[in-house]
Order: sequence, then C-alpha cells, then structure tokens
Amino acid sequence: MSIASEAPDNAFFIGLMSGTSLDGVDGILTSLSGKQFAAYLPFPDDLKQALMALQAPGENEIHREALAANQVAQLYAACVHALLQQAGIPASAVKAIGAHGQTIRHLPASGYTRQINNPALLAELTGIDVVADFRSRDVAAGGQGAPLVPAFHQACFGSVTETRVVVNIGGISNISILKADGTVSGFDTGPGNMLMDGWIHQHLGRDFDEDGQWAATGTVVPALLAAFMAEPFLQLPPPKSTGRDLFHTQWLANILASQPALAPQDVQATLTAFTALCISDAISHYAAETAAVYVCGGGVRNTQLMTLLQQALPMPVSSTETLGVAPGEVEALAFAWLAARFCDRLPGNLPAVTGARGPRILGALYPA
Ligand SMILES: Nc1ncnc2c1ncn2[C@@H]1O[C@H](COP(=O)(O)OP(=O)(O)OP(=O)(O)O)[C@@H](O)[C@H]1O
Ligand SMILES: [Mg+2]
Repeated sequence: MSIASEAPDNAFFIGLMSGTSLDGVDGILTSLSGKQFAAYLPFPDDLKQALMALQAPGENEIHREALAANQVAQLYAACVHALLQQAGIPASAVKAIGAHGQTIRHLPASGYTRQINNPALLAELTGIDVVADFRSRDVAAGGQGAPLVPAFHQACFGSVTETRVVVNIGGISNISILKADGTVSGFDTGPGNMLMDGWIHQHLGRDFDEDGQWAATGTVVPALLAAFMAEPFLQLPPPKSTGRDLFHTQWLANILASQPALAPQDVQATLTAFTALCISDAISHYAAETAAVYVCGGGVRNTQLMTLLQQALPMPVSSTETLGVAPGEVEALAFAWLAARFCDRLPGNLPAVTGARGPRILGALYPA
C-alpha cells in the first residue's frame, strides 16, 4: 500500500500507533513507491501500569502524565530508529512521522480527547517532523474525534463494484462501511479485546487469551450476554465512539455482581461472544448488503472470536491480508496516511463518520 500525497516519489512517511489495548507501539515506514517496513515494540511493564493508572482520575496526574508522555515518546523514537535501520535510510528521507499518542481520556461530550505523547521530544530524538494530536481538531469542530481510520480504509480497501466493511478489533472495535459509490460511514461498535484482556489478566495473569483458547474451553452464559448487551452505548445511533472511559474493569465487575457466581472461563467465553455480537449486530443493522467483511487489528489472531464473527454473519469474513495488507499493520499505516494528508494540508476526518461540522486538517506540526 502506498500513500497518495504530493510528496516526491522517494519521500517516506512513518505511522506510529499505540491503541487502547495498551500492548505497545506499532510502527510503519512507507513510501509513495510502495516500499514498506514494520516494527512493533511492546510497552515495558512500568509504562503499561503508568498508562493504565492514568485512565482514571488519580493523585498528581499532571506530573504522572508528563512522565508517561516522555516515556511514550522515547519508545516511539526507538520504533522510528528500528524502522530506519530496517529500511537502511537516513532520518532525512522521511517527510513526517504521524504519531497517534496514547489515549488516556476520550470524552468528546466534555469537549476533549487526550492522546499523550511528547511530540517535541520525539522530533528532538528523531530529527524528523512530527505530526501529532490528530483527534482534537475534529472534537473542536463538534465531532467525536474518532474513528479516524475510515477515510484511510476507503483509500486502501474501497471497491467501486461492491460494499465492503472493514472491522478493526483493537482494544475497542470500530467498523468502516465502504460503499461502491464512495460513501463512507463508520463508528465504534463497542469493546474489542479490552474486556477479554482484562479478565484473563485478572484470572490467569496473562496479557491476552492466545487464539481465544481459554474462551473456547468455556460456555457462553446467555443471561450474562444479555446483561452485557443491555449497555445503552450499543443502542446509540452513530456517530459514536468509546474507550476505557466506559468499558473499564468496573463496568464488567458491576454486571458480574448482578449475576450468580460463574466459572471464569465461561465469563471469558461470554465476553468473546459479546465482542463478536456487538460487531455483527452493527454490520447487520447498518451494512446488511455488504459483500464481504475484512478484519484488522490484534483481534484477528483470536481464532475463537473470528469463528463466532463468521457464524453470526452471512457474508464472508476474512482478514485484510485477503486484500494484501497485514492486519496488524493497518492502523499504523493509517497514521502515516494521516501525516501525509496533513503535509498536503488535506482533511483527514469524515464528517459523516465523526459528526464534525465539516472536513478538517488534522494534527499539529512539531518541526524537526
Ligand atoms: N495471538 C493472539 N490471540 C488472541 N489475541 C491476540 C493475539 N495477539 C494479539 N491479540 C490481541 O490484540 C491486542 C492488540 O491489538 P491491537 O494492537 O490491534 O490493539 P490496539 O493497540 O488497541 O490498537 P487500536 O487502538 O489501533 O485498534 C492484544 O491486546 C490482544 O488482545
Ligand atoms: Mg496495539
């Protein structure tokens, strides 16, 4: 996948994405000519814990946020250096880095969303122009600031002959509905891996349920699934977006408190079914005519989840690999694309998706 931009053919862009799963940073280095390199650096445990703690109000947040932002920037810079080394190119060959930052609050209804990073430090450590803070302008224009990837999904995966749906299953899941006439819609469907990750961590100390194997040993509990599905967010019409602000550990604890005692693997099976059902319901309701569903994000690797998703939908469900893009690379690629859009001073948001008053150029520049 190459990036449409007015930059010269040999210009590279870097996209850095660290999502709500809090697993680490995915980096992509890509050029107009289609050359592409990928790197992934996991968050060290102390940074993961610091970021997790910042998801909720707490003492001395400003100081803790600043320190965590510096650490995020340092990890981002290490990812950039790994990409440059792989590609064998100097920093000067890269036109810009699109750095998402780490979401610690997403409250568009209160007028803000916060992705922490220290873009000034990142520019200092890499010697490359950094474009950061992609979501705030859309929120300032009355939008959700999310999801931002549908425009890229359209550019990358759209078809002129059929409707396609792209689903990103990160911490949260979001869908992009790409119609043959070029119309794009999209929204957050609800949880992705986030609740499953939290539950297995609580019970088995693991970061995630590898291939959905633990969930596969359990049985879906219909009453619990119904209680999950009663979450009002799921009934809201788009535009809508969500995050850890809603689907946090306490959200799950509150619902479980209203249920009889359940085997932990049955809860995991039900959480997996819940994620699949939120996605399949959204597709059935808003894109029943879609010819095919393409999935990206870490959730693709949860075989149990992918099986449930296919069972719930009549059209074929596969990973974006089917269309030639590795599912783990799509979101980082989107931020390289958004950086290129910024450099060309072109809008990155889709008002039909985010609810913003109009198209806006997204991001703020920190020159090298
Ligand atoms: N082998 C696997 N089996 C099951 N789940 C996996 C596997 N590998 C990764 N995952 C899941 O994918 C998650 C990471 O996915 P990803 O990086 O796409 O999410 P994210 O960081 O929240 O991204 P974004 O916000 O951009 O969507 C992990 O937290 C885990 O839940
Ligand atoms: Mg991730």
